[in-house]
Amino acid sequence: MKIPLILLAFISVMLFADDGYKVYKRHCSSCHMVALPYHEPDRTAAKKKMKAPTMRMVAMRLKTMINIQNEDEDIQQKVMKAFIKEYIVEPDEDYAICMQQMIERFGIMPPMEGLTHDEKEAVAQWLWEQY
Ligand code: HEC
Repeated sequence: MKIPLILLAFISVMLFADDGYKVYKRHCSSCHMVALPYHEPDRTAAKKKMKAPTMRMVAMRLKTMINIQNEDEDIQQKVMKAFIKEYIVEPDEDYAICMQQMIERFGIMPPMEGLTHDEKEAVAQWLWEQY
């Protein structure tokens, strides 16, 4: 059977998006929530349990702080993903872009070990999409 190329491209994009979320679930979700619940009292309860900024906060912060001249979104995405892929294996206070209050409250993130190149790429892509 011949599968149209466009369908294959679509399927691979879907798989890829899914992979990023899976990597997040497996390696990041023990500390990072995706986002805070919108309604009270869940919101306050979740805030108390936080061990790290939410992934939405992180994505928002990075997108606001990494402010490059090039308006091409593809380039912006590459730069932000490069930072994420490097930071998760080598977190460092001097390198962090995250808000200082977050670092004071939660400490510096421990390095994530054993992630493959593809897993890092997938989770960075997924994180880019969170804001
Ligand atoms: C053991 C807890 C823990 C796990 C697991 C964890 N993180 Fe973090 N992460 C933190 C904390 C705490 C911070 C805030 C302090 C900092 O920036 O280092 C943080 C910050 C970050 C930042 C912002 C960096 C900055 O300061 O600019 C990114 C990006 C990030 N995490 C991505 C991830 C991804 C992706 C994963 C999974 C592959 C992950 N983290 C897993 C605790 C964790």
